Amino acid sequence: MKMNSAAPKVSNDRFLRALSRELVDRVPIWIMRQAGRYLPEYRATRENVPFLELCKTPELAATVTVQPIDVLGFDAAILFSDILIPLEAMGLEVRFDEGKGPILPAPVRDEAGLARLRIPDPIHDLGFVGEAISIANRKLAGRVPLIGFAGAPWTVATYAVEGGSSKSFRNALGWMYSDPASFRILLDRIADTTANYLEMQVDAGVHAIQIFESWGGQLGRDTFREFALPPIRKIVNRLLPRVPVILYVNGSPQHIESMAEAGSDAVGVDWRLPLDAVRARIGNLLPLQGNLDPCCLYAPPADLEKAAIAVLERGGGVGHVFNLGHGILPDVPVASVRHLIETVHSWKP
Ligand code: CP3
Repeated sequence: MKMNSAAPKVSNDRFLRALSRELVDRVPIWIMRQAGRYLPEYRATRENVPFLELCKTPELAATVTVQPIDVLGFDAAILFSDILIPLEAMGLEVRFDEGKGPILPAPVRDEAGLARLRIPDPIHDLGFVGEAISIANRKLAGRVPLIGFAGAPWTVATYAVEGGSSKSFRNALGWMYSDPASFRILLDRIADTTANYLEMQVDAGVHAIQIFESWGGQLGRDTFREFALPPIRKIVNRLLPRVPVILYVNGSPQHIESMAEAGSDAVGVDWRLPLDAVRARIGNLLPLQGNLDPCCLYAPPADLEKAAIAVLERGGGVGHVFNLGHGILPDVPVASVRHLIETVHSWKP
């Protein structure tokens, strides 16, 4: 079991054991966006605090990090923050207006824009994240491991270049194809920032790291290998000796082999391919995380149970961390999540 020496010992270590392909009594489960709007406790904390302020106030960020553990009993906690936090520290304004997605009013579109992007000092500029980690570990009191995270450089770059969420990604892809050399400088600067930032999270005491390549599906197989994979490898290489790293890609089917070559300890896949089909392509050695379709949580209990058991059987019980194929949606009933956790925990590997 790979254990960060700066992180506290935990009594429930199923998640860390699964990432090392050790035997477990139960398949561990956590879900992406588990600290979020589907939970009434989150909505209550969030009611009077803007989203970015919640991210930047360590005591509050730690409180919502721990809520899903207290209320539902997942096998790991994930730090409450956002993948856009480091972009702000790089010098870009980031806004979350109520009811809308993220907005970056002054996006970076060319080589001149690059001059505005600095590589932040993680302690000075992002120290509030380290504080949230310390407080969250104190509140968790060794019950479960804490996962730190960051976006992968391509995904973070899409927000910096598009100025928010996008449908066509024409600005980011347009830059990539029209001036690949300067686009690589952008990716590399984000990679350096991210590696420093994640190293700070490891120093602060997270037990594992997840890298979110949420817009990986926008890239074709070869383009992903050419542009997105090298900066991911740079980050993974910096962290590997110290903590287990999970590389999650949304839009993973065309990238399974590339993901396996990133050097991470595990790969997180979306719901589009069953786990046995993933294993058939990359073998059994690399632990998998996933991959129930998030919308299965709207199914009647018996059907949800059937779908979850199918994921467990195809995952094979060893080297498997149960998760959704993408983040939980805000209107999912808490009772469904509770039923999902019970189903996973009563299945014998
Ligand atoms: O998983 C967790 O529980 C930890 C917290 C977390 C958040 N964002 C909180 C959040 C994590 C890991 C993220 C990562 C993130 N942020 C990603 C990658 C994961 C993925 O979903 O693919 C991306 C693409 C973002 C960028 C982002 N943040 C968007 C596009 C939005 C708006 C869309 C939406 O769901 O409203 C956010 C806001 C955000 N990040 C919320 C939460 C709980 C909702 C904000 C609110 O409370 O109003």
